[in-house]
Amino acid sequence: MMTAVPETLLAPSLLASDHANLAEGIRQIEEHGLEWAHIDIMDGHFVPNLTFGPGVVAALRNRSGLFFDVHLMLDNPDRFVEAFARAGANLISIHIEPDYDVSATLREIRRLGCRNGLVLNPDTPVDAVLPHLDNVDLVLAMTVQPGFGGQEFRGDVLPKLEWLAAERKDRGLAFRIEVDGGVNLETAPRCRESGADTLVAGTAFFKAADKQTVIDAFLGRNA
Ligand code: DX5
Ligand code: ZN
Repeated sequence: MMTAVPETLLAPSLLASDHANLAEGIRQIEEHGLEWAHIDIMDGHFVPNLTFGPGVVAALRNRSGLFFDVHLMLDNPDRFVEAFARAGANLISIHIEPDYDVSATLREIRRLGCRNGLVLNPDTPVDAVLPHLDNVDLVLAMTVQPGFGGQEFRGDVLPKLEWLAAERKDRGLAFRIEVDGGVNLETAPRCRESGADTLVAGTAFFKAADKQTVIDAFLGRNA
């Protein structure tokens, strides 16, 4: 079966924006004509950091029609998918590592009217996603250990992207392949070449003075 490879997207991560003015971060994404905002939700257990709750996502939803790509870094994501769906998430991604019913939670996210995503930490073998591949809209291969922005990119994750792209092609599937962590001007092309089509950028986007150059480089638009 022939399936088109999804177009490349840049999803800026609000984690690297001004947390006292998240609406301004949203405005900067919209101003540059981008469609996705990546929103990192951390619980202080699955990862050693805390960020935003559903109330923050709902408040941002009131300000914006952007596609909200909500990345749950929680020990018990099954308990929170409904709250984030109600808050206005468009896609909710959940990690495969914690102990909960991953299949049921992926189904529940779709039942709630959202797209679903499955996330792998850098040291989780990629074939862990095999039982779920027919039922996901996105697979996120973390290129840093989750918890903090501004970390160094893990090049050893690139073969996972190649594997996912090959598996997607062989099976005629259409899930997106996302990367998150340390994606910058140098590593974004390597991710694309390895098969990623959805590139998350915190530091590389929000700390850049010239955002248009970052966007063009990420999306492979050579001026
Ligand atoms: C890390 C988060 C990322 C983070 C990436 O746990 O999942 O989304 O914002 O930040 P950068 O792009 O700075 O590595
Ligand atoms: Zn993230």
